[in-house]
Amino acid sequence: MESQLQQIREEGLTEIAAASSLAALDSVRVKMLGRAGSISLLSQSMKDVAKENRPRFGKLLNELREEVTSSLEKRVAALNAETDQVLLSSLDFTLPGTCPELGAVHPLTRLLNRAVEVFRRMGFVLAEGPDIETEWHCFDALNTPADHPARNEQDTFYLPDGRLLRTHTSTIQTRVMESQIPPIRVIGPGAAYRRDEVDATHLAQFNQLEGLYVAPDVTLADLKGTVSFFFCELFGSGTELRFRPHFFPFTEPSYEIDIRTQALGNRWMELAGCGMVDPAVFEAVSARRGDRAYDPELISGFAFGFGLDRLAMNLTSIPDIRMLVENDMRFLSQFR
Ligand code: PHE
Repeated sequence: MESQLQQIREEGLTEIAAASSLAALDSVRVKMLGRAGSISLLSQSMKDVAKENRPRFGKLLNELREEVTSSLEKRVAALNAETDQVLLSSLDFTLPGTCPELGAVHPLTRLLNRAVEVFRRMGFVLAEGPDIETEWHCFDALNTPADHPARNEQDTFYLPDGRLLRTHTSTIQTRVMESQIPPIRVIGPGAAYRRDEVDATHLAQFNQLEGLYVAPDVTLADLKGTVSFFFCELFGSGTELRFRPHFFPFTEPSYEIDIRTQALGNRWMELAGCGMVDPAVFEAVSARRGDRAYDPELISGFAFGFGLDRLAMNLTSIPDIRMLVENDMRFLSQFR
């Protein structure tokens, strides 16, 4: 029995030492320690050993099992180290690495961040609305009924269920007033859509920033002060503003705002629409809400909206609006 044990030991250790791959090593393990392996068979023959010899034989058998197990482990480690060595020697650590492409903040986002920061300082909070809108939020509530000519000017994309892609971010006004009570002081940035022919100055999707302030006794002076402060913060204190009378269905009186500043080439540029919220808008919102929180006799407000794309283009001398959406790295990497 003992000589058999000795033989298994020697043969096993020799095979382990000779195994040149993990697979070969595993078959040695199965051959010795597997269920029908030589060591397992040997332990089954324990019953044939004389009773007085059993403890000694058992001890030898355990020692053999431990010795084989540990030399298997050592050989696995040695084989792994050899493989690593081969891999490492084929690597050249002196080769230059590949540098990950660094991203940059898009010129539009950069402008928006600056705008939001200025309005925050005046107590405005961010508001949002969906791009897919109902006709009511986009037109009817904003004093633009179905037969109003202003709807033609803002012709848009309709979905089969009658909803539409919003033509302006003024929908955010209606959404905020529908769900919150005055005082309201919000800015709402977002995409707007119109069925425009795409060219160097037009996209079918562009970006606007809407503002709305509703409280008791809000006046035109508040509107002028707020908008002037904003543009002076953005472009410097030398910035001049011109409020030109205009028409929007949802504000009365209404203005277009022209700006002249060094940063925009020192020529007058039409940048924004604005006005005092039309009482008809407050009435439409009140009818929807079923309360008098927006009673035009008790509160007033102003709203403004401007396009971000054209502003960003002028600030950074971008000649073609399409560059803002083409994701061309040669263009974008200039803004790092
Ligand atoms: N919604 C208008 C537009 O898209 C801009 C505007 C907003 C005008 C708020 C007045 C008040 O042209």
